[in-house]
Amino acid sequence: MPKDHADPIAALRENTAVPFERARAMPNEVYTSQAFVDAELEHVFRKDWYCVGRADALSSPGDYVSCELADQPIVVLRDQDGALRAMSNVCLHRMSTLLHGRGNAKTIVCPYHAWTYNLDGKLRGAPAMAQNDAFCKDHYTLPQVRCEEWLGWVFICLDPDAAPVAEQLSDVARMIEGYNMTGYSESFYE
Ligand code: FES
Repeated sequence: MPKDHADPIAALRENTAVPFERARAMPNEVYTSQAFVDAELEHVFRKDWYCVGRADALSSPGDYVSCELADQPIVVLRDQDGALRAMSNVCLHRMSTLLHGRGNAKTIVCPYHAWTYNLDGKLRGAPAMAQNDAFCKDHYTLPQVRCEEWLGWVFICLDPDAAPVAEQLSDVARMIEGYNMTGYSESFYE
């Protein structure tokens, strides 16, 4: 029976240090340790770029897909000007999730108290708040998340300091340059 390790990262490092001919399964803790999950969130999922699909699946203004990255609800969409954007999918009023799954929306309407946001994340209307003299909707915009398109793939990243996708994947781009990946479409998978 495999032994438990006090430090799952050290155990994984030990595993990967052996020659290929002596390779073993990963230590159990990679799948069960909260410390390992926390380390993955901190060093991988909050730092790196993640692909959320093909840009042509978000071809029209208002097309959106929602996802979670490192426990952060995010919506990726095509805005009114035709640009791809990613932003927080959490309402600035009482933190309700705004959009679910994928679809098309002219505006983003919170299902809880109907605060409404433009496709660039700016607050457009907040029912009942007009009675509050101190409230100014111009002060509310959904926090934006980095979003880049690379060869037709859409990537998002929570780290403002991460190098651009094209820079990080420049070696991959050279390897696959004969495949015209930019011309792939979502129907390719059907
Ligand atoms: S939580 Fe969104 S409008 Fe209240």
